Amino acid sequence: MKSFLAIPLTVLLTSLTPLVDAWGADGHKAVGQIAQNILKSNVERQVAELFQDKSFGGQLAPASLWADTIKKQKGSPFAFWSAPLHFIDTQDNPGKSCSVDEERDCPDGVCVVGAIANYTTQLDCENGFDRDTRDIALRFLTHFFGDITQPLHVCGRSKGGNDVDVTFDGRKTK
Ligand SMILES: *[C@@H]1O[C@H](CO)[C@@H](O)[C@H](O)[C@H]1NC(C)=O
Repeated sequence: MKSFLAIPLTVLLTSLTPLVDAWGADGHKAVGQIAQNILKSNVERQVAELFQDKSFGGQLAPASLWADTIKKQKGSPFAFWSAPLHFIDTQDNPGKSCSVDEERDCPDGVCVVGAIANYTTQLDCENGFDRDTRDIALRFLTHFFGDITQPLHVCGRSKGGNDVDVTFDGRKTK
């Protein structure tokens, strides 16, 4: 596990700011369900076998919510350090230039792009990771593939879009 102190200060500050998850539970479940629908039956079986948390019912949609639940949960071994893995603050200039530079935007792989690479390696059964590790990797991936398709989670603005004030359904929210 990465040392808390090794995380750059800006990332640390961002992770301590209460983040409303812009994609929300419905968005993540939809991504998980779409993925579930296109699994081949042998993969579907492996997914069901991998998930040790019975509340997922062996399905990607319920498992997709886990990464948000544990990122700030007291006592969770994943608390706080995993929060910066949900987004990437690209320092590009949309409208003029669009780019992702891993060194600039994802130091030490601590961003959603680095996390997807990391957990894909851990999930791949060719790489010899144990079942617990692969279970956790799949939970993270099911969530991060949702986050990376949320456009505001992949730009360096307003904390992944979480600080944008809007009125929705007559109610002020972020
Ligand atoms: C990679 O996964 C391990 C195990 O969860 C974790 O300790 C490490 O911080 C992860 N690194 C990145 C960049 O996601």
